[in-house]
Amino acid sequence: MSKVEIFEVGPRDGLQNEKRLIPAAEKIALVDLLSQAGFRRIEVTSFVPPKWVPQMADAAEVMAGIARQPGIRYAVLTPNLRGYEAARAAGADEVAIFASASEGFSRANLNATIAESLARLAPVAEAARADGIPLRGYVSVVTDCPFDGKVAPASVARVAASLRDMGCYEVSLGDTIGQARPEAIDAMLAAVLEELPPENLAGHYHDTAGRALENIDASLARGLRVFDAAVGGLGGCPYAPGAAGNVATEKLAAHLALGGHDTGLDMAVIEKAAAMARGMRGGA
Ligand code: HMG
Ligand code: MG
Repeated sequence: MSKVEIFEVGPRDGLQNEKRLIPAAEKIALVDLLSQAGFRRIEVTSFVPPKWVPQMADAAEVMAGIARQPGIRYAVLTPNLRGYEAARAAGADEVAIFASASEGFSRANLNATIAESLARLAPVAEAARADGIPLRGYVSVVTDCPFDGKVAPASVARVAASLRDMGCYEVSLGDTIGQARPEAIDAMLAAVLEELPPENLAGHYHDTAGRALENIDASLARGLRVFDAAVGGLGGCPYAPGAAGNVATEKLAAHLALGGHDTGLDMAVIEKAAAMARGMRGGA
């Protein structure tokens, strides 16, 4: 059986888009349950301005409240140096920075051009290197942008290479609005793989159009072995109109098992966490 890792992003990418302000205690309970499931990495929250994403305003409280388990890296998203410093103070084991492959989404999500956003991230990368904190990178809208339409694979490759050059040990490729077709994912990966080997890449596919699993299969064929998912299919992005949930962890884990891939996850715990997540969303 080949090993495939699921990187759980539900508490961050999943919950950030929920309208109801979810109490920190509920978020902590979800992370604590996920910590029993066998993940090696869990993205817990993000240190972003509350006026951009109100749901993540309790990031420090959530980080302080979780019961950390050995062998799990608790990761957070940071948009700038201020966010990074708050993440470090909260004891994040890993931080992620994020950039867009299209100018339209960069403007909407980061209030900056791609070049400006990368310049803003450079000091975060330098600080993480100095502190010895692992740095992950995301590229958003790797095939389809809600503002600019189709995204050129070369743009994705360029931004992914910039994140690698800044020191990201892994770059996660985001189909932010879940509209990618497997052929587009394949063409995008062909370009990105000219710059980075598959072991430094992850697939981050939202399931809006129901094609995330096909896109993951296309990525497995290209050698990728890490995929981001959100338990209960939570998710979306407040600055990406039309973005629905991330691919559901339980659906992906079952699909991978059928394909002969070992995720090392405890499916009974995953199912419990999925039910909890759906309840938080109000759709249990
Ligand atoms: P800006 O408004 O241009 O920044 O936003 P600013 O520096 O002018 O700051 C605005 C205000 O926020 C100021 O306060 C700052 O002090 C404060 P004011 O003077 O107005 O009272 N501030 C902060 N507060 C708390 N924490 C901070 C912080 N920084 C500044 N870290 C910025 C620029 C990049 C900050 C903003 O655009 C931003 O945070 N964008 C991120 C939005 C976001 O979180 N989106 C969702 C995550 S990305 C995603 O989901 C995609 C992904 O899943 C992959 C995929 O699916 O593609 C990763
Ligand atoms: Mg996302």
